[in-house]
Amino acid sequence: MQAIKKGGVNYKDPPLPPQQSRRLRRRTESFPGTSGRAGVDMTTGRICCLVLLTLGVLAAVVVLLVTLTQPKCGPQQYLHGAVAADTEICSNISRDILKRGGSAVDAAIAGLICTSVMNPQSSGLGGGVVFTIYNASTGTVEVINARETAPQGIPSNLLSGCARLPIGPQWIAVPGEIRGYEEAHKRYGRLPWKSLFEPTIELLSHPLVVSPVMDKIINHQNFSQVGRSLCPLICDGQKFLTSGKTFRWPALQKTLKILAENGATAFYEGQIGKALVEDIRKVGSVISMEDLKAYKAEVSSALNITLNKNTTVFSPPPPLGGAVLLFILKILEEYKFHEASLSTPKEKGETYHIIAEALKFGNMLKPEMKDPTFSEVKVSYCSAREY
Ligand SMILES: *[C@@H]1O[C@H](CO)[C@@H](O)[C@H](O)[C@H]1NC(C)=O
Ligand SMILES: *[C@@H]1O[C@H](CO)[C@@H](O)[C@H](O)[C@H]1NC(C)=O
Ligand SMILES: *[C@@H]1O[C@H](CO)[C@@H](O)[C@H](O)[C@H]1NC(C)=O
Ligand SMILES: *[C@@H]1O[C@H](CO)[C@@H](O)[C@H](O)[C@H]1NC(C)=O
Ligand SMILES: *[C@@H]1O[C@H](CO)[C@@H](O)[C@H](O)[C@H]1NC(C)=O
Repeated sequence: MQAIKKGGVNYKDPPLPPQQSRRLRRRTESFPGTSGRAGVDMTTGRICCLVLLTLGVLAAVVVLLVTLTQPKCGPQQYLHGAVAADTEICSNISRDILKRGGSAVDAAIAGLICTSVMNPQSSGLGGGVVFTIYNASTGTVEVINARETAPQGIPSNLLSGCARLPIGPQWIAVPGEIRGYEEAHKRYGRLPWKSLFEPTIELLSHPLVVSPVMDKIINHQNFSQVGRSLCPLICDGQKFLTSGKTFRWPALQKTLKILAENGATAFYEGQIGKALVEDIRKVGSVISMEDLKAYKAEVSSALNITLNKNTTVFSPPPPLGGAVLLFILKILEEYKFHEASLSTPKEKGETYHIIAEALKFGNMLKPEMKDPTFSEVKVSYCSAREY
């Protein structure tokens, strides 16, 4: 997930968001001259006239204020907020959370819960999450790292099997997803936890459609063996479903209902965790209930660089890979690319070559992105010339 803009989380269309309509009301109420005490010794007719005049002025002021507080917005521009999930339906769910007064973090969590259903190959309760949260009023950025961690009982020789594709139950890590949502919601949530799950729980009352991406993954030959255990969910007979086919997922709906009602504890200490651990231990995972109970999301500040002396870029610190991206951007900054850098075939070739080289140097640094909990990591950026 990219930087989430915090504060001022509104939406495009009328009715006015609560803050704005409140502000409007306050301003009109305190408009001078509308006090009923204006004409104590006047005749009724004059009072009537004055009241009408006052109402007229008041109406004009309200119209003016509404006009002034509703800046114009062109097509594809968003006045109060925008959400980009990887499916339209999840973007809509997030947007609706904003419309109901939810914070950007509320919207992100609701969108992620939805994504775990619409694109289950990409995201889900068994995975991990990283939030990068921008506070617009202070200009500061906070990172919540809830990526998966290695279980206590991890076999010490596990990495020696790395030459082959690392597939199988021994590679399952301790899930962080729900603790991450919990931490983010505790810090920045505005709507009740439960309400973030409700739209997706409703979605699961209807059949789900296999997307082209999901089709590609579940029908890949590398998936056919490891994915067998998912057959009760996504197979028609012995064959995996293909794009456009539908399936139902009542067990996930039940799980989400329990999480909505009982919070992350149901996963990390309760019935869901117990069922999960039991299932995966049966096939050879070493994850235990103790691993789940000990799991904690980590909160830290973000790394940042300044580009062109005027743009600040933030990224999560190691063990996450953002420093590599910052390194690449810092190298490219020096070349001062602009429109003309792509204007002729020769310019284009040179520009792409430089970008490819920068990516290559960045890629070489990936093994340096160690986990600071276990190894020292030094992050510093140098210019292309220094490098
Ligand atoms: C942003 O930071 C300020 C100052 O620390 C804090 O009062 C405010 O609640 C923060 N905003 C959000 C949305 O958390
Ligand atoms: C998303 O919301 C838009 C605007 O309300 C609507 O037109 C569209 O049909 C919705 N899409 C889905 C998939 O629900
Ligand atoms: C599929 O497995 C083979 C052999 O283990 C591996 O070389 C290849 O990269 C895998 N393909 C994908 C898309 O993961
Ligand atoms: C950027 O990082 C530096 C440390 O490298 C830190 O001192 C500074 O406060 C950060 N800036 C912001 C806006 O977070
Ligand atoms: C930042 O600086 C660059 C290069 O000096 C300039 O092209 C760009 O317009 C500036 N951007 C802003 C937002 O000031």
